[in-house]
Amino acid sequence: AIQRTFSIIKPDATRRNLTGKINAKFEEAGLRIVAQKRIHLTKAQAGQFYIVHAARPFYDELCEFMASGPIIAQVLEGENAVVRNREIMGATNPKDAAAGTIRAEFAESVGENSVHGSDAPEAAAEEIAFFFAGLEIVG
Ligand code: CMP
Repeated sequence: AIQRTFSIIKPDATRRNLTGKINAKFEEAGLRIVAQKRIHLTKAQAGQFYIVHAARPFYDELCEFMASGPIIAQVLEGENAVVRNREIMGATNPKDAAAGTIRAEFAESVGENSVHGSDAPEAAAEEIAFFFAGLEIVG
């Protein structure tokens, strides 16, 4: 079924001017960018977004990094979009990411891994609502 997922192009990627190359990967794979905005989160906002990871040892580093530069927040739409996007992104650690995936091609490390994508439809709905109002999503 047609589904929506939430995506972030992370600061390591915007810093290296990779927004267009990453968006091309989504579009070539059949995902449609139905909402998109460039924003610079505060560390507190990043902390709210990643609150489920609050107990992890890398939480502080993660929030610091996500506030280190602009991000592109996006809604991607397409057939089975949550799983499809995770395939396009590749494994969290670029060392484990399959050839041709975004993380294999662009990620610098497990922390600075160029993109975030929702891991389940329920998470996608929450994450989309965190960043976008209904009127900002144009399918
Ligand atoms: P993301 O999909 O954005 O969700 C949580 C993020 O935590 C994950 O991608 C990684 O970038 C980051 N992360 C996971 N493991 C580590 C780690 N060991 N050190 C730093 N960051 C990590």
